[in-house]
Amino acid sequence: MTRPQVAKDWYESAGVRSGPRRMLEEDHESGLSVFPERLVPHLHHEGLADLGAEGRRTLLTQHFYQYMLFTSHLETKVVNRGAAMVAHGEVDLDVGPDARLDAFKIYSDEAYHALFSLDVVQQVEKVTATPVLPYDFGPRMARLDRTAHQFLPEHRRLAHLLQVVAFETVVTRFLAQIPRDESVFRVVREVVGDHVRDEVHHHSYFTRFFKELWASLSPALRSKVACSMVHFVDDCLRPDLGPVRAALLSVGLTADHTEQVIRDCYREEELVAGVRDAGRHTLGLCASVGAFDLPEAQEQLHVLGLAD
Ligand SMILES: [Fe+2]
Ligand SMILES: [Fe+2]
Repeated sequence: MTRPQVAKDWYESAGVRSGPRRMLEEDHESGLSVFPERLVPHLHHEGLADLGAEGRRTLLTQHFYQYMLFTSHLETKVVNRGAAMVAHGEVDLDVGPDARLDAFKIYSDEAYHALFSLDVVQQVEKVTATPVLPYDFGPRMARLDRTAHQFLPEHRRLAHLLQVVAFETVVTRFLAQIPRDESVFRVVREVVGDHVRDEVHHHSYFTRFFKELWASLSPALRSKVACSMVHFVDDCLRPDLGPVRAALLSVGLTADHTEQVIRDCYREEELVAGVRDAGRHTLGLCASVGAFDLPEAQEQLHVLGLAD
């Protein structure tokens, strides 16, 4: 089997090695939106009709902030936790010396992604004067921990690696569209474009990594891994509603009104459809190694509404 690998020319091509710092220049952004409006489900809820253009702009800006802050937490707290384990050889799999070095290349990429995500948040905050609301990664981490505890209580490190596989192989279509969306701030298009370029390599690295890992597992562990992957995909893709709630309250909605908007705009069937769509590659990867031939994994797919 081919060993996992990142870009052969990483030292020349990776954003952290050669990319410019992306700077917001106000005269380049006039008339543009900080984030694509269509990606903010609550923005056009009829109950927000009285909010006015300013309030709507604030909601859009908060959504942008929370997406970027989510990214910076995820990279450093989840992805790099696993990347460091691979680099140190702290996994029950001999990935080989090159793949260990590559894991540190990914680690460096992700640290840089965290840096530029926070950088662009601070630049946008300065120009728009919309204050960044506090961001809490805790609920996301708690979901990931819960799944790890449920299916792999005695294999914490393996669970941490699988979380990385899930996050690094899901494909959020909308992300790839942002760099070409000319209605969006140029600096945001540039930053997202830089990120997507690096992630293409991570995606193929962790796809290969998972295949090798799977091949090395005992039948008993395969069952646990298959069940946990279904939940990890859901854990990583299901949107956090806490920041949405905080943003709606911050523009003056009452608590009841806020809950109504959330109920209307984040219906369970739409959330499941979103997980299915963005998770299809990861679920396909699991299916390709036979993970979903196991009846217990099929059962978990049904529990989460992700079965075919
Ligand atoms: Fe990244
Ligand atoms: Fe990545």
